Amino acid sequence: MIYLKEANIEDIWKEYDFITHTPADENGFTNAGFGCSREDFEYKILPGYLRAAKGIGLREGWVPETEFFLWDNETIVGLFRIRHYLTEALANGGGHIGYGIRKEWRGKGYASEGLRLTAEKAWGIIREDEIYMSVHKDNPASLRVQLKNGAYIHHEDKKEFYTRIKRPADRRIK
Ligand SMILES: CC(C)(COP(=O)(O)OP(=O)(O)OC[C@H]1O[C@@H](n2cnc3c(N)ncnc32)[C@H](O)[C@@H]1OP(=O)(O)O)[C@@H](O)C(=O)NCCC(=O)NCCS
Repeated sequence: MIYLKEANIEDIWKEYDFITHTPADENGFTNAGFGCSREDFEYKILPGYLRAAKGIGLREGWVPETEFFLWDNETIVGLFRIRHYLTEALANGGGHIGYGIRKEWRGKGYASEGLRLTAEKAWGIIREDEIYMSVHKDNPASLRVQLKNGAYIHHEDKKEFYTRIKRPADRRIK
């Protein structure tokens, strides 16, 4: 079974293993925990995720953000994050959702299914009528994942496509 689970203390060592096997920045998907010690993960990184999800202790200009791990049965295969609303910088940049799949699990449909599940979560969290995302032009796999999930290309610049998914009529803003 494939499902999303919010970052949590009970799964800490599986989460740690995933985070330390995910690059610090790959195609704009960032991971501040790359290379961290077990101690740093336990006392800084994971508590940071939990606080950020509640909007506590945010850096100036940052918005609340929830980290969801993508699980296939007992294994974490990916990480999806939702920023709860847009600032001007996010609207013109990374948007609401970021994601990455662990290298050995790529090419098996996990990002496609993970983004579908994440969009479902996002409709209950975000304030806007569309999910905003962006993708580097040299990352066709990720663009494909977004288009498969109903995204359209809103505009582009030299480096990126800026995509959006329209809120379905039956997913009203809460
Ligand atoms: C991009 C990424 C999330 C894709 O994850 P994944 O689990 O391998 O994706 P999926 O298997 O669900 O789907 C990939 C799709 O792209 C297609 N694809 C793969 N390489 C492609 C390429 N070079 N050109 C066009 N399409 C490509 C696949 O065929 C598949 O489409 P299909 O289902 O229609 O066959 C993963 O490579 C990753 O984590 N990369 C690093 C972080 C990253 O780039 N994050 C996204 C930032 S926007």
